Amino acid sequence: MPKNLSRKILEAHLAQPSEMIPGEEIYLKVDQTLTHDINAVMTYLAFEQIGLDKTQVETSVSYLDHNLLYMDFKTPDDHIYLQSIAKKYGVYVSRPGNGICHAVHVARFGVPGKLSMGGDSHTPHGGSIGMMCIGVGGMDVATAMTGVPMRLKMPQIIKVNLTGKLRPGCSAKDVILEMLRRNTVKGGLGKIYEYVGPGAATLEVEDRVTITNMGAELGATTSIFPADEQVRKFMKSVGREDQYIELLPDEGAEYDGQIDINLSELEPLIACPHQPDNVCKVSEVEQKPVQQVLIGGCTNGSYKDIAKAALVLKGHHVHENVSCTCIVDSKQIYKQLLKDGYIDMMLDAGVRFLELACGPCCAIGQTPATNGVAVRTTNRNFRGRSGNPNALVYLVSPETAAVCAITDRFTTAEEIMGEDVKILDTIHTPELFPEDNDSLLIAPIEDQEEREKVEVVKGPNIAFLPVPDAPEQHLECRVSLKATDNISTDDITPASAEFSSMRSNIPLMSQYCYHRYDPTFAERARELGRSIIIGGENYGQGSSREHAAINPMYLGVKAVIAKSMARIHKGNLVNHGVIPMIFEDPADYDKIDQMDEIVIDNLRDQMAARVVEITDKTKGITFRAKLELSDDELAVILCGGQLRYLKNELVQRGVIKEA
Ligand code: F3S
Repeated sequence: MPKNLSRKILEAHLAQPSEMIPGEEIYLKVDQTLTHDINAVMTYLAFEQIGLDKTQVETSVSYLDHNLLYMDFKTPDDHIYLQSIAKKYGVYVSRPGNGICHAVHVARFGVPGKLSMGGDSHTPHGGSIGMMCIGVGGMDVATAMTGVPMRLKMPQIIKVNLTGKLRPGCSAKDVILEMLRRNTVKGGLGKIYEYVGPGAATLEVEDRVTITNMGAELGATTSIFPADEQVRKFMKSVGREDQYIELLPDEGAEYDGQIDINLSELEPLIACPHQPDNVCKVSEVEQKPVQQVLIGGCTNGSYKDIAKAALVLKGHHVHENVSCTCIVDSKQIYKQLLKDGYIDMMLDAGVRFLELACGPCCAIGQTPATNGVAVRTTNRNFRGRSGNPNALVYLVSPETAAVCAITDRFTTAEEIMGEDVKILDTIHTPELFPEDNDSLLIAPIEDQEEREKVEVVKGPNIAFLPVPDAPEQHLECRVSLKATDNISTDDITPASAEFSSMRSNIPLMSQYCYHRYDPTFAERARELGRSIIIGGENYGQGSSREHAAINPMYLGVKAVIAKSMARIHKGNLVNHGVIPMIFEDPADYDKIDQMDEIVIDNLRDQMAARVVEITDKTKGITFRAKLELSDDELAVILCGGQLRYLKNELVQRGVIKEA
């Protein structure tokens, strides 16, 4: 049977079972892992507790790239710990200033056909070069580093057939915004999007990264392009053509569904507050004065992106009412942009360059003003994600962002440039980037004796990894929170320089759980001792941060009952012993209120049946919730979380002596 590309790569990594059926559990051998500073401390604390002497995958990389703002001792404590633990366990370190994890990873470590797991939801960025890259929680990365195959529900594989060619002034951002417009933030749940067709062949890797990166916003397991001539050219441009292999779907390959997009018909699009799928044409959006523009980030910080924005800005000035900043996504690209004069063009226009780091994308700096309108090329515009819950964040392409910076309103490049907009089509990825001397990359220590001598440095910000208790048979507690639809992990664990630096310290961070959504939650949950959360649709969407599971668990939350749940967050709840349940009848959501008293008898036995009967004593009603869990996921929760489960498994395999 002719095979699609995703199936070929998954098959090549399949540990068990022998067949891959959509919706059924599969186990995959992992080649590479990726972590970054604001999520990784928990990953490495878990790996330390397991007791292996080094990472068991081919390549593990720890990126220090998100929070480079050292407001106090906490973040430098984290970075020093992460650098020392990486040395101890054979992990590469990409130091602050090298660039944003996804961009650096694809350029320095990406190889078509490999399988990578990253503790970041935008890990699918690497799908741009025909690599299978999946975002997971930090505990899953720790698990992969032990060599244990990754657990995944086999996704459906959807063909996205691209035809035509993007018009000047339109870009890959408009392709992914069109996907979001059509499919919504939960349309990709349980799916891999495989982009093929003559239109795909016209997109360079620097275009493709925007699409695969932001596939995360669709809720997709991952997104991928073939490893074709465009990938060969990219691998050559970063000096690694020798690692290129061609990987294409077979002629006539079968898929589980198909979406058709004619690139020639796209117009510049914009995602309006406060969801990435709230998309319309730039020409149709309600006008508001723009206060802030951010160009760059991992989604749109490539050479092509910044060079196009520079050409739009050339000869213009940033409007006096607009603050315009730029984040280039890696040192290597920054050097090339400098050489080619694009940095000068932007400086002359009045753009401010920020560190090569995530920064404002996760509320580390550049928070918009009160009711401020921010236009960004990043990937998320959830309320509060920018650090200010009343800011209005709009997501666009770099060329649209640049023109908004000039005009102080929502404008397309074509409106300002007229026929000259065609000049944007002359921008291509350079044939050869300046050689990267990897001055900010620390290679792992190969020699075991040398690794054993490494001292792991733990400053006071590095607290402990809380481990959950196994669920008891009888659960009697209150509803500590009734949440609405589309709760994001940003709502649960707020982003910002201040909060990000607390992620290594759960007792401290948990005090701010749901801080921007409901500042009374943490106190209430702690006072209740044990509780459950009620959620609406798509609970836990967004960032992969497992703190959105660990913090509620630490505050005594035993279960989340929602209408539906995002994939990575559900996995994080399982890993940290919080039972994820789905309303059997979504209408029951409306009957329950915050602080209702809930009783579940024979919980452990009912969990085994995957349907749990729940009594709301306050309302005098009984309703049912489903556990959409595999046998292994169930076993993980029943034994008190993934760390306990994994250690038991490694003992059984003879890998470690005691759990
Ligand atoms: Fe960083 Fe934002 Fe990307 S936080 S990894 S630039 S989504």
